[in-house]
Amino acid sequence: MTTQPGRSAEEEFQPVTEEQLAEQLAYYSSRAGEYDDWWLRRGTFDKGETANEVWFREAELVRSVLSSVELGDDVLELAPGTGTWSVHLAPRARNLLLVDGSAEMLAHNPAAKEEQVRTEIADLFTWETDERFDAIVFTFWISHVPRERLRPFFRSLGSWLRPGGRLFFVDDLPLATTEPHVDGAAGQTMTRRLNSGESATIVKNFYPGAELAAAAGEFGIDLEVRESETYFQYGTGRRR
Ligand SMILES: C[S@@+](CC[C@H](N)C(=O)[O-])C[C@H]1O[C@@H](n2cnc3c(N)ncnc32)[C@H](O)[C@@H]1O
Repeated sequence: MTTQPGRSAEEEFQPVTEEQLAEQLAYYSSRAGEYDDWWLRRGTFDKGETANEVWFREAELVRSVLSSVELGDDVLELAPGTGTWSVHLAPRARNLLLVDGSAEMLAHNPAAKEEQVRTEIADLFTWETDERFDAIVFTFWISHVPRERLRPFFRSLGSWLRPGGRLFFVDDLPLATTEPHVDGAAGQTMTRRLNSGESATIVKNFYPGAELAAAAGEFGIDLEVRESETYFQYGTGRRR
């Protein structure tokens, strides 16, 4: 286990409480209407032409990696939110299931209206399913999973994926700590500010790629994790 920037090892071991997980979910519901400003580099996230160009170039690199992943028919997207990535999955899947805890975030997801797409509003820390999938995708989600829940999360992924099934994820690199909506970070948590001025505490872990690959491997998933130059960590995997 490695210590994250500016955090002590003791802080990292502090488990996240149920209340903090509820606060994280409520934060995303409150942020739904302004969430896409972050991805589209609008408003306070607009860092100027040069920095934005790097962001969009690296985002496009990651998107092209997703397009090279064989998704198969039955696809599960966890925590899809406003659908930045769902819109790339929906045209390629026969069945796409979107599971997110926030109805407010899902209300902004254009893919949710597609005929082959089902949505489920559920807490991913307790959600279970008997369905099995050819691919599972989660974007900007793994950093919100507490350390003590990381192995159980990969155990679930291992059981939900069919043999040969594919995994794709993308998340932030630690530079995300310098984003304008961040007020501070301690242990596994980060304090974020909304446009309204209200603030909330969420979980934010920057897992080293090797740690994610080891956790995935334990549950039958061969996972390769890479990084773009500045902003993103991403991975592709296959269920053995
Ligand atoms: C950082 S956003 C990622 C959204 C989208 N995947 C993207 O790439 O833009 C995190 C998402 O996790 C969802 N979420 C947070 N806590 C959750 C929970 N306990 N169960 C299910 N979804 C949750 C939020 O509603 C939000 O849509």
